[in-house]
Amino acid sequence: MDRIHITGGATLNGTIPISGAKNAALPLMIASLLTGETLELINVPRLADIAALTRILGNHGVDHMVVGKRPGQTAETGQTVRLTASNVIDTTAPYELVSTMRASFWVIAPLLARFGEAKVSLPGGCAIGTRPVDLLIMALEKLGAEIEIDGGYVVAKTKNGLRGAEIAFPKVTVGGTHVALMAAALAYGTTVIDNAAREPEVVDLAECLIKMGARIEGAGTSRIVVEGVARLSGARHEVLPDRIETGTYAMAVAMTGGDVTLVNTRTDLLASALDTLAATGTEITPVADGIRVRRNGGGIAPADVTTDPFPGFPTDLQAQFMALMTLAKGQSRIRETIFENRFMHVQELARLGARIRLDGDLAVIEGVERLKGAPVMATDLRASVSLVIGALAAEGETQINRVYHLDRGFEALEAKLGRCGAQIERVRA
Ligand code: UD1
Repeated sequence: MDRIHITGGATLNGTIPISGAKNAALPLMIASLLTGETLELINVPRLADIAALTRILGNHGVDHMVVGKRPGQTAETGQTVRLTASNVIDTTAPYELVSTMRASFWVIAPLLARFGEAKVSLPGGCAIGTRPVDLLIMALEKLGAEIEIDGGYVVAKTKNGLRGAEIAFPKVTVGGTHVALMAAALAYGTTVIDNAAREPEVVDLAECLIKMGARIEGAGTSRIVVEGVARLSGARHEVLPDRIETGTYAMAVAMTGGDVTLVNTRTDLLASALDTLAATGTEITPVADGIRVRRNGGGIAPADVTTDPFPGFPTDLQAQFMALMTLAKGQSRIRETIFENRFMHVQELARLGARIRLDGDLAVIEGVERLKGAPVMATDLRASVSLVIGALAAEGETQINRVYHLDRGFEALEAKLGRCGAQIERVRA
């Protein structure tokens, strides 16, 4: 298995291009199942999770074509992908494929809405808590689906198509909102989604569905209204920038010090996290096509955060922020309210010399003077990048094992950091 070696201590200076958002690209690709016409997606990141979903869609019979580069594009420009689901031959998503990535479960919605049946394995994905799918199933049942669990599969059927309904989520769920949106788009009548997720990725999916002919109002608020249509058409849509990648590199600069401009991204995607970073003494300046992040001299001030659904502080940046707080001048507290088990990075950060105490959903971090490099292990996607951030600021060498977690969500990580002065290299197994 590949490893990453980092020699810490260098400040970061330069420019980092931000990729298209993994968490937007995945539901957008899945939405291609809603139509027999071609969906063209621009700025799709090159990631292991995208490749895994491409295999799943291919297994259903979706044609997949990567369009070659055009003049003006660079090595960092994301891929343009054309997906055509004109010949779906199989409405089953098998365990071998779905177990590697949780979001692939969402194919259940377009398959059911368009073909009246779907059989999808219960999902796998990051080991960050139980991560059930009960609310996704509830949403589909409200729309009239008959659902049973059989041999580890969710088997969903509808006799005369889905029917619009009121779906009130008891808890904010991003995946639940994606599933409800896709299914309601082709249901008969009006669907009202209450307590909908307001994440930018939900808005991106809704905008793409609207281009495909869906009638959706209120995406980005907690009440979304969908008027079902009989059919959807092809469309062309650009994936929005990855706010988690943006926040991750901003925190890396806050930790090492330096001056980096993150391009092809937007401050409004990250409001709360950038405010928190500013409170730690990091200068954040919006620029034409991105964000300039600077910390020169001056220590890192401690700050407290609680993870929350958008527009709150994202759980997907919690581990990275904790890495930053390990070097803060004083005590900080981080409360994780979204996933109960999302503190696996704590023991690995401790191997670098961090002082962190856990008490249920609360982590109390006592800032230390310095971190020291050590061998550590990546445990999940966001946790592993927190170890990268810690290692960049640690004295000496850190070796990060099991980096396939990083490859699921961070495109060209070593190249992007290396270009800004980080000493980072991948050792191929
Ligand atoms: C998505 C993101 C993930 C992010 C998370 C929260 C993708 C591909 N993944 O995951 O990176 O960390 O949002 O912002 O976009 N829940 C239930 N029952 C359900 C569904 C969810 O109880 O049926 C709970 C979960 O256990 C969790 C909370 O709801 O406690 C939020 O989960 P959800 O928003 O659904 O996360 P995902 O969509 O899986």
